[in-house]
Amino acid sequence: MSKRTKATPPVAPPATIVIFGAMGDLTQRLLMPALVNLQAGGLLSGKTAILGVGHGEGDDAALRAELVKFVEDGPVWQTLAKRITYLQGDFGDAGLYATLTAQLEGNVVFYLATAPAFFAPIVESLGKVGLLEESHGFRRVVVEKPFGTDLASAQDLNRRLLVHAAEEQIYRIDHFLGKETVQNIIVTRFGNALTEAVWNSRYIDHVQITAAETVGVGTRGAFYDATGALRDMVPNHLFQLLALVCMEPPNSMDAEAQRSEKAKVIAAVRPADPHDAVRGRYKGGTAGGTKLVAYKKAPDVAKDSRTETYVAMKLAVETWRWHGVPFYLRTGKALGARNTEIVIHFREAPLRLFRDTPTEELPPNTMVLHIQPNEGLSLTMAVKKPGPLVDIVPANLHFAYAEQFDLGHRTGYETLLYDVLLGDQTLFQRADQIEGGWRAVQPLLDAWKKGQPQEYEAGSAGPKDAEALMARDGRAWHTIA
Ligand code: BG6
Repeated sequence: MSKRTKATPPVAPPATIVIFGAMGDLTQRLLMPALVNLQAGGLLSGKTAILGVGHGEGDDAALRAELVKFVEDGPVWQTLAKRITYLQGDFGDAGLYATLTAQLEGNVVFYLATAPAFFAPIVESLGKVGLLEESHGFRRVVVEKPFGTDLASAQDLNRRLLVHAAEEQIYRIDHFLGKETVQNIIVTRFGNALTEAVWNSRYIDHVQITAAETVGVGTRGAFYDATGALRDMVPNHLFQLLALVCMEPPNSMDAEAQRSEKAKVIAAVRPADPHDAVRGRYKGGTAGGTKLVAYKKAPDVAKDSRTETYVAMKLAVETWRWHGVPFYLRTGKALGARNTEIVIHFREAPLRLFRDTPTEELPPNTMVLHIQPNEGLSLTMAVKKPGPLVDIVPANLHFAYAEQFDLGHRTGYETLLYDVLLGDQTLFQRADQIEGGWRAVQPLLDAWKKGQPQEYEAGSAGPKDAEALMARDGRAWHTIA
């Protein structure tokens, strides 16, 4: 069933959603509010049940009491709360899976909101007791990120999961794909004859993809120090944006048609060259109005840490359409502004016609897809400055989602959970996409086992070398703020 071909969104089929890691941060902050929003929108079946599984002591009432802290305690929550139960158990204990086998029937979604070390063991345990057999309903597994820490570990994890579950049963989350503006990239490109006509190397000079955050690592020091900006953001989130910008038009809106086109792009990314990449680490300062201690002094960060909190790189996508077009990607914490955006820089129009005017340079057209926080789209055009001379200056056309639509309070997980229930894998990563992402960044992971990142001031635009990476090509980054 696909919601994409229906006039009104269908109610999801009844299912039990088993959440491993029910008392965890992800369940509280994102999953439960998203389920409440789906319930409020009338998209959940009256027979939906939520079974939370966790290590911690507790019962149904205790779980509900934890979860209600993150949602509005009104009639919608009350309806859903009655269907929430808790099962205490150790994810490694065979007894837990025996209990689950006795309790579960019909459609089941197993959501792994756990530390990554549990992903494969849980799926293996479910598989061994037959809980992934689909004879009396669907059985689906949702796997959170990080999916592996490099190419070899991602391949290994895929292999282990695929022993017990078919690819069609596995939903690998990339929460960026739940964002409305990310889903809108396809519409911007393929729903507008104007854009698609110029979406190629003939008209596009280069593309910049930025995911800038003002926050530091906060209390996630232990996770982050073992991860770093590259693993945390690039092969997953930024590559998904890259794939949507670069993919060929799929033959249909079917999940497989879209995922295949995206996978082709990721497979065509030339493995990153360490000479075309920069890593940075923030020093103390003020970012987003908050004072931050230097990364090296953050809680749970190793004294001899070489982990980067910023990364920038130039990539090539080796396809016919993108021949010779550089893609510049950057992401970092503790930067001057929170801003995720894609900037398409078009080539300059020939200056010839205006050679006898005061115009020395024509401002190139740029299209900015504002992913967050100010969702929208803007376009810079060259216009004539009013007056007696032909003086050409850039002007900005801007569309802001918030001015035309009520965006409500959504977490981005609504669409993803709803799609899992409907069996629509469009917004989930296939095994080959994940592995392709790791393959492309593996040279950087290898090179960065040595040396240290360049330091940058918290609240700045990132390390100096990132500016140099662009300046070398006669280009500059779009201002973050
Ligand atoms: C997560 C990363 O996947 O994405 C975080 O682990 C990061 O480090 C977050 O802050 C960014 O997502 P969003 O939706 O807040 O832009």
